[in-house]
Amino acid sequence: MKFLIVLAFVAAASAAPLSADQAALVSNAWNSVKHQEVEILAAVFAAHPDIQARFPAFVGKDLASIKGSAAFALHATRIVSFVSEVLALAGNPAAQPAVKTLVNQLGQNHKNRGISKEQFNEFRSSLTDFLASHATWGDNVAAAWNQALDNVYAIIFSNLDGHPVA
Ligand code: HEM
Repeated sequence: MKFLIVLAFVAAASAAPLSADQAALVSNAWNSVKHQEVEILAAVFAAHPDIQARFPAFVGKDLASIKGSAAFALHATRIVSFVSEVLALAGNPAAQPAVKTLVNQLGQNHKNRGISKEQFNEFRSSLTDFLASHATWGDNVAAAWNQALDNVYAIIFSNLDGHPVA
């Protein structure tokens, strides 16, 4: 029981809205890489072929052969645009209901596709590696980025568990 209470506390403590300063740090880092959509998705697929295998258009195909295709650019742009949209709303308390709505939808769409928490965590680690190696990075940026992802992932994981966030 004590263990559960501690767990609940940790979960609650990990979801803290970003301050305006943290949001600016995250947005600056993201803005410096977001034009590299294709490279971002290629890095995710290269590190985690099980993620590539979930995309009907790309399953079983050689990454080098799909990377230059219009379909690949389209998917990469969708994913990167989603992150941009959510980050544009971070740090603004009035926008938090909109963030919840957007991320609940994403969580529900991906639950319907059978995507697991493990795969979301794989995706997160590749995205973070990409940012850390292509943006101006430091402990303060890393902390703000991780807080942003903790917040988004708390909503996604609630949906994967069958509980959209109210
Ligand atoms: C934070 C992480 C992620 C973001 C922001 C993201 C974003 C998106 C977006 C915006 C779309 C298109 C709109 C939609 O149908 O929802 C999409 C589709 C999709 N995502 Fe994700 N995604 C993420 C993680 C993942 C992971 C981890 C997987 C697989 C392991 C995955 C698999 C898919 C698939 C299979 C589609 C459908 C592609 C198609 O239309 O053929 N996503 N994702």
